[in-house]
Amino acid sequence: MSVVHFPGGDRVAPKPQASKTLLTFADVHKRFVQPDGSVNTAIDGVSLDIAEREFVALIGPSGCGKTTILRLANGLIVPDAGSIRIDGRPPEPGPDMGFVFQAFRLIPWANAQANIEFALESLDLSRAERAERARHYLDLVGLSRSAKAYPAQLSGGMKQRVALARALAGEPRVLLMDEPFASLDAQTRELMQGELLSIWRRLTPTVVFVTHSVDEALVLADTIVVMGAGTVLETIRVDLPRPRLTVEMRADPRFLEQRSYLWNRIRDLVLTDPASEFFGRNLNE
Ligand SMILES: Nc1ncnc2c1ncn2[C@@H]1O[C@H](COP(=O)(O)OP(=O)(O)OP(=O)(O)O)[C@@H](O)[C@H]1O
Ligand SMILES: [Mg+2]
Repeated sequence: MSVVHFPGGDRVAPKPQASKTLLTFADVHKRFVQPDGSVNTAIDGVSLDIAEREFVALIGPSGCGKTTILRLANGLIVPDAGSIRIDGRPPEPGPDMGFVFQAFRLIPWANAQANIEFALESLDLSRAERAERARHYLDLVGLSRSAKAYPAQLSGGMKQRVALARALAGEPRVLLMDEPFASLDAQTRELMQGELLSIWRRLTPTVVFVTHSVDEALVLADTIVVMGAGTVLETIRVDLPRPRLTVEMRADPRFLEQRSYLWNRIRDLVLTDPASEFFGRNLNE
């Protein structure tokens, strides 16, 4: 794994202030046996140190192992070799870990409020406290007026907000997000990015956010981890000042430089990956 330094050297930012390591992957391997008996090595020796309150974006071609990293971090699956620790202990699914899936995974027969309350059932809270907590987080994502609406009555962006509120309501230390905004239109996506950043500032969870979008990674993250074929290829510190969701930032030469670096890096990964549908194509034609 290498840390990329951009021209100008000390523009590589240090880790966030409270740089106590929270989540560690140490030489983690994970293989899956396919129904035909063949073995698929999804994660092939990943080591990562993620600090408390750090916002990390995972980026890389389809199939390189991003979702598998989140599932390992959550304790939904366990590594074949190597170790994963959160605060020194193996991860376990639970309220300490918020998971936002790409598909919203809302319960269709429960309204927005009830979807969140269900997720809180494993906590030691009274019914009234659960209801109060659900209301609070619906309000935080700007959906208090839709508490009684069922998923089918909500737009894609609203469903995504309910899914975010549900993950936040457990007040997790670690928020794992798998391409959460991929299905949103550009405008809603940007609004949700702003929403997420303001919630992150207030609640300070550690965030691991999977995205295919270079721009999204650059506006959100302290650190971008570039993955390829089950390994970490590079760790890039994003030293751009915040707030970043501004017109000025999109024109800032530092933003453009990091954007073009990442864009080319990922395009090359896709074009040189024999497993990719775009392998060997000349995209300039
Ligand atoms: N449960 C499973 N059984 C078998 N193979 C799996 C399983 N989960 C993942 N894989 C394989 O592991 C590799 C990594 O998958 P993963 O879902 O982590 O990729 P990804 O980077 O999230 O891709 P995408 O960007 O398309 O979501 C892929 O080759 C995938 O087919
Ligand atoms: Mg995935």
